Amino acid sequence: MELEKFVDALPIPSIITPKEIYKGKPLYHVRMIETLHKFHRDLPNTKVWGYNGLVPGPTFNVERNKPIYVRWTNHLPTKHFLPVDQTIHGAHHNPEVRTVVHLHGSPSEPASDGHPEAWFTRNFQQTGPHFIKEIYHYTNRERAAALWYHDHALGITRLNVYAGLSGLYFVRDKHERSLPLPKGKYEIPLVVQDKSFNPDGSLLYPDQPENPSPDLPYPSIVPSFLGDTITVNGKVWPYIKVEPRKYRFRLLNASNTRTYKFQLSDLRSFYLIGTDGGLLERPIQVESLDVSPAERIDIVVDFSELMGQKIKLQDGFELGNPTGDIMEFQVSKPLSYPDHSRIPSHLSYFEPIPLNKVRKVRRITLNDSQDEYGRLMLLFDDKEWMDPPTETPLLNSVEIWELVNQTPGIHPIHVHLVNFRVLDRFDQNGNLLPPLPADFGLKDTVLIAGGETVRIIMKFQPYCGDYVWHCHRLEHEDHDMMRPLIIIPSHHSKPSNSNGHH
Ligand code: C2O
Ligand code: CU
Repeated sequence: MELEKFVDALPIPSIITPKEIYKGKPLYHVRMIETLHKFHRDLPNTKVWGYNGLVPGPTFNVERNKPIYVRWTNHLPTKHFLPVDQTIHGAHHNPEVRTVVHLHGSPSEPASDGHPEAWFTRNFQQTGPHFIKEIYHYTNRERAAALWYHDHALGITRLNVYAGLSGLYFVRDKHERSLPLPKGKYEIPLVVQDKSFNPDGSLLYPDQPENPSPDLPYPSIVPSFLGDTITVNGKVWPYIKVEPRKYRFRLLNASNTRTYKFQLSDLRSFYLIGTDGGLLERPIQVESLDVSPAERIDIVVDFSELMGQKIKLQDGFELGNPTGDIMEFQVSKPLSYPDHSRIPSHLSYFEPIPLNKVRKVRRITLNDSQDEYGRLMLLFDDKEWMDPPTETPLLNSVEIWELVNQTPGIHPIHVHLVNFRVLDRFDQNGNLLPPLPADFGLKDTVLIAGGETVRIIMKFQPYCGDYVWHCHRLEHEDHDMMRPLIIIPSHHSKPSNSNGHH
């Protein structure tokens, strides 16, 4: 159905506040509930699942090194309103509606990381084999950055996130505050998700692939989902009125499958100032940015010369199609006061890449396979989720992972616990490719295009225990492009500071 563009104002997700003190620290309570949400002026209300009933969920705004607790609770029905495939990992013999929350980009202890098998049902009546506790602990010791939280239950992550279970989590710090970047109402979060709607307003998610073979189970998972409308902060194709000045946008691609080439109309340039793990060292002027699911970009757009104009945020991969537009900036508000913000040429400092400390290099393929029904299944090294763990780095060790994409599609690869650096990219013939702008930042999710090989380097700290790594195309993650990541205590190894430094 055709929905008119730019008729709804962009909502800004509300900021959540803690309700009580637990073990001397703020405790937040977030309830997952089924509710109705208005996605567009001309759409009837839509059934969604929201954290505190909101889509996207409420935004956390926390200070670096100030730990918090969160009690995430499930008040959802026991039947899913989207088509659940009972044949994929985690879905068989388990309650249909199960949830668990992962704070994406956070170095969380294992018990608070939202392991896919640490799921729980309504009122914690049933819990998965990895479930440890009800109240999660976040130390917030990472750099200032835009993290996000979302559902991660084994086998139904794609459905739970699509139903509405995701939200933003900002870590702030003194250094970032000291910079003259646009702040306050001039810093705007943008959560981008593609959706499809039925005429009655309900969310449309396919219950089987197009042209299914007769042997398929029903419902059956699909290998990708592309919606025919784009939502930002829970509104279809919204607009925002802005002043003629600089704005900072904290953009998250929270879509299931879709990778966007974000650009402004007329290819106006803008600045990339930060990535998944926070501010870059230096800003980069760009005309477009490819952003795959779960990646965040921190950008500054200067509207100061554009009074009276309408500037669109677009997807350069889809120009000419309805989904080529994302939202509209209407430069129509008078300037409230002179814009003294600017983009410093030095934004932050990173530790040098510890190439001399590398303990292990792993070469892992991303490959196409088939499941027992003949359906396309994406795997790492041909291994399924349930195969014995293979990625078992030692605590505090540095590893290089060489991720070889043998498929024609894009895979955004996410590693829990760590931030990594992107070392380089090669095409399928082994030719070095130019880096993407985001490759200069700290990353927790990296876009790997079809046929590409990408090398990433990371240090596994600060916790031992059970984590995961996976493709963040949620249809891939659920089937079966996710593997255990088990950090092993390193007391058997020689102390690394025996030569006088560490
Ligand atoms: Cu954003 Cu393991 O996920
Ligand atoms: Cu994938």
